[in-house]
Amino acid sequence: MKVDSNTVLYGLIGHPVSHSISPLIHNLSFEYFNINSIYTVFDVTPENLENAVKGLKSLGIKGINVTVPHKENVIKYLDYISEEAKLIGAVNTIINSDGILKGYNTDYMGFLESISENNEVLKERDILLIGAGGAAKAILIALAKNDVNSITILNRDVQKAEVLAKTLEKDFNLKIEVYPLQDAEKLNNIDMIINATSVGMAPDFEKSPVSENVVKKANFVYDVIYNPEKTILLKYAERNNIKYQNGFSMVINQAYHSFKLWTGKNFDKNLVYKHIQK
Ligand code: ATR
Repeated sequence: MKVDSNTVLYGLIGHPVSHSISPLIHNLSFEYFNINSIYTVFDVTPENLENAVKGLKSLGIKGINVTVPHKENVIKYLDYISEEAKLIGAVNTIINSDGILKGYNTDYMGFLESISENNEVLKERDILLIGAGGAAKAILIALAKNDVNSITILNRDVQKAEVLAKTLEKDFNLKIEVYPLQDAEKLNNIDMIINATSVGMAPDFEKSPVSENVVKKANFVYDVIYNPEKTILLKYAERNNIKYQNGFSMVINQAYHSFKLWTGKNFDKNLVYKHIQK
């Protein structure tokens, strides 16, 4: 990688950011297209967020991904928000267009494409979504726009999930049921389970958001977590012969759309998959 006075800077802001595979994905693709740019990570604490975003303009950083815990709070510092990002209430990609900061959400497309890459469909499915944070919101909008049959949300903080469900029921013609996480065992009519919490992520990889009994009721289990590759939740699915998928392809696909927004180019997903799996 050649860095000189014309090199354009991209990056990720979040806290923490050290686990991210985004630098690998974007730097590989910059090299592939021979684009004189680099992508790095910035560990930004919540109290530094405003200054960090203002700094994008003053330093001329061309594009930024945003991750936990800033996806929602960053919105108030931006000049333009896409319709999708507005609906989701979260931004994960910023373009600095000559000093105008524009916010987008590519998690939404990342999720949809990762589902279809696995030959699954959302239409007419009965979905159990675990979580009510930023990732869950992007997934919920994808579910709402893709004619699922029913949505049930489980969350530790049940009030947070209720607020989310009410907003969505207003925006879309949907009925969403909400339960506290500890009521998981009581649920029936589960077809597809989607975990959008951080429960089971390294270093807490011995945990699962729901028990094996709940997993047994499903036909497909999706975990947004990709580190570890196979969470306890997915291991429950595997040993009960239930189809499952981790969040690896969602990350690749959200990066694919961020890269396209910044450069106008479609990176080679297969090349990226192979490189990262190595
Ligand atoms: P992200 O943007 O990755 O979705 P987030 O907005 O912080 O991150 O949301 C994290 C999700 O994981 C939330 O649904 C959170 O539950 P609460 O809304 O009750 O906080 C869930 N979560 C995190 N740690 C958890 C734990 N130990 N047990 C249960 N749920 C947990």
